[in-house]
Amino acid sequence: MLQGKTIVLGVTGGIAAYKAAALCSALVQRGADVRVILSSSALQFIQPLTFQALSRNHVMIDTFEEKDPTVISHIDLADQADLIVVAPATANFLGKAALGLGDDMLSTTLLATRAPVMVCPAMNVHMYQHPAVQHNMELLRARGVQFVEPGEGFLACGYVGKGRMAEPEEIVDTIIKHFTLKQDLVGKKLVITAGATREAVDPVRFFTNRSTGKMGYALAEAASRRGAKVILVSGKSTSLPIPPGVEWMPIESADDMYQAVVSQAHDADMIIKAAAVADYRPAVVHEHKLKKKEGNLVIEFERTTDILRYLGEHKLPTQVLVGFAAETENLEENAMRKVISKNLDFIVANNVALEGAGFGTDTNIVSLYDKNGLIKTLPQLAKREVADCILDEAILRSEEKVQCMPKL
Ligand code: CTP
Repeated sequence: MLQGKTIVLGVTGGIAAYKAAALCSALVQRGADVRVILSSSALQFIQPLTFQALSRNHVMIDTFEEKDPTVISHIDLADQADLIVVAPATANFLGKAALGLGDDMLSTTLLATRAPVMVCPAMNVHMYQHPAVQHNMELLRARGVQFVEPGEGFLACGYVGKGRMAEPEEIVDTIIKHFTLKQDLVGKKLVITAGATREAVDPVRFFTNRSTGKMGYALAEAASRRGAKVILVSGKSTSLPIPPGVEWMPIESADDMYQAVVSQAHDADMIIKAAAVADYRPAVVHEHKLKKKEGNLVIEFERTTDILRYLGEHKLPTQVLVGFAAETENLEENAMRKVISKNLDFIVANNVALEGAGFGTDTNIVSLYDKNGLIKTLPQLAKREVADCILDEAILRSEEKVQCMPKL
């Protein structure tokens, strides 16, 4: 089941390190090539020889060991990995990973990899509940790290509660699920826009909005995971990491976005415009910094091109075009108006005034509308789950269009 997969198993210093040996063995038995990295604290609990014997691979501990002069080992491992699993992951590891520190073999490999990362925390229940640990996990989750939640029960420290590492069989099941996910976008090209645009006034100032790009990045990640070729057009202001396998076209202004999207639209199977594009830009961009003067400053704005409207007017027969509507009132009415006027297949509408929805949050509450009205309302979900629902609907629409094409 895991034949041909290279799995880097990071083991950090907790008592659950003994369970990592069973995990390593189970992965090897299912055909995976397992490369183990031990942190220096893990060595207090378990010996490298255990993992060497189970994995039949050299175990990595020291970043500077560099046994093979033809490669830099943490970069090489990072590149070879199809998946990195950290089990057990201590509170210290989570803190380091959230901060992006690179002070040992595991942390540098994690920084260097483009592979998906799965983390299996294990610690005392109070440590697990600590706001700092929870915050670090939130940060990592937002960067696309997948968590295998710890179980509840008797902990080695004597407490009973949540914190014991998930059992190796559960972790193996999650890993197998990860590799056998839906691949229903293979051969499809998706153009996805995300985040805010910036409209310059002068060399040091610009107008922008509150969009962080989380929804668009979640869509790009999900589409790439499902096998699509993904072109992500997003602002340089978005600080999120580019999801693995995704091609990034950095832009700044609405006009940059227009140029980038139009250059990619002619052969795109789906275009999803999650970006919050400026509707207006300063009519004049000053060459030098505007100096303050007595009295008020008046800036004249002119309209930007409505990219989505342009795409709707030039839509290919089998192309699926999806828009977003961020509203604070009259959600349905506004969403329907945009679907029809911009010739969209459907629109993802959310009330950005609701808690747990809109800009900057990790969750969203959206409803999908097409020209006939409401398609579905989704409950509050993680943005990556919302992304999968949007892609499911887009795939359905795409299949309908292909079926309706005259057969030659
Ligand atoms: N959009 C676009 N080009 C623009 C402006 C918006 O492609 N210049 C896209 C957005 O990416 C989004 C959708 O259009 O998918 C949003 O629709 P829009 O009518 O622009 O919504 P608002 O900007 O919220 O405008 P309104 O004032 O009409 O609510």
